[in-house]
Amino acid sequence: MTVHFIGAGPGAADLLTLRGRDLIAACPVCLYAGSLVPEAVLSHCPPGARIVNTAPLDLDAIMAEIATAHAQGQDVARLHSGDLSVWSAMGEQTRRLRAMGIPYTVTPGVPSFAAAAATLGAELTLPGVAQSVILTRTPGRASSMPEGETLAAFGATGATLAIHLSIQNLGRVVADLIPHYGVDCPVAVVWRASWPDERILRATLSTIEAALPQGIERTALIMVGRALGESDFSESRLYAADYDRRYRPQSADSPWAEWSPSDD
Ligand SMILES: C[S@@+](CC[C@H](N)C(=O)[O-])C[C@H]1O[C@@H](n2cnc3c(N)ncnc32)[C@H](O)[C@@H]1O
Repeated sequence: MTVHFIGAGPGAADLLTLRGRDLIAACPVCLYAGSLVPEAVLSHCPPGARIVNTAPLDLDAIMAEIATAHAQGQDVARLHSGDLSVWSAMGEQTRRLRAMGIPYTVTPGVPSFAAAAATLGAELTLPGVAQSVILTRTPGRASSMPEGETLAAFGATGATLAIHLSIQNLGRVVADLIPHYGVDCPVAVVWRASWPDERILRATLSTIEAALPQGIERTALIMVGRALGESDFSESRLYAADYDRRYRPQSADSPWAEWSPSDD
């Protein structure tokens, strides 16, 4: 018996890996985080599967479901939204599974920041503008931030920021970032990226708060950075016509001239 943690993606039922879909189809038990995982993903469960929404359960109750499946020798598909590497609460579950001697696997999913960037049609790392993306959040009712992980500290880098779990703190986000990015820095709020009712709001740090419509809450990302508005950036060297590289040697003297794809 194995517990398969599966990243269920940002919302669209077809933004799920083939491996994730096949694992769901093979597991007689499915536990899903119902606050964000779309019901359509559950259509991959086999007929007669035990399907449990864990949103109203506490950790002990979730582990009790897994222990019951373990006793019956039934594999479990454990679904969390987006990818499991960020804000999935997987860590506390795998720690308990290790203590219980229950094996598990992890299948990645499409994270919401990538879905939001796709919705915006944006590359977050433009040459000469931003070469780093910081995935972060602000403190919430249930979660404080470790000392040092402040928006001011991240803002000082000038990187593109993907700020999760924070739409209710938009005023604080704006106040913390204006000193680093400037009032005219582009901001996008992407609400329910990839869902049928997704919405995008583009503005600047000085205008975003006033522009935010009613009803944009919870499942929204705040994307901040010059890369979101920039059309005046350098092209990458990778595809420059005169760039000497393994796949496109520029002369007989090139260190790559003798190389052929079968060498690798
Ligand atoms: C508990 S975290 C889960 C993050 C998830 N594990 C991931 O990989 O993106 C929930 C937060 O992720 C963001 N989020 C998740 N799905 C989203 C979506 N479809 N569109 C916009 N933001 C989303 C929101 O900031 C939301 O408050």
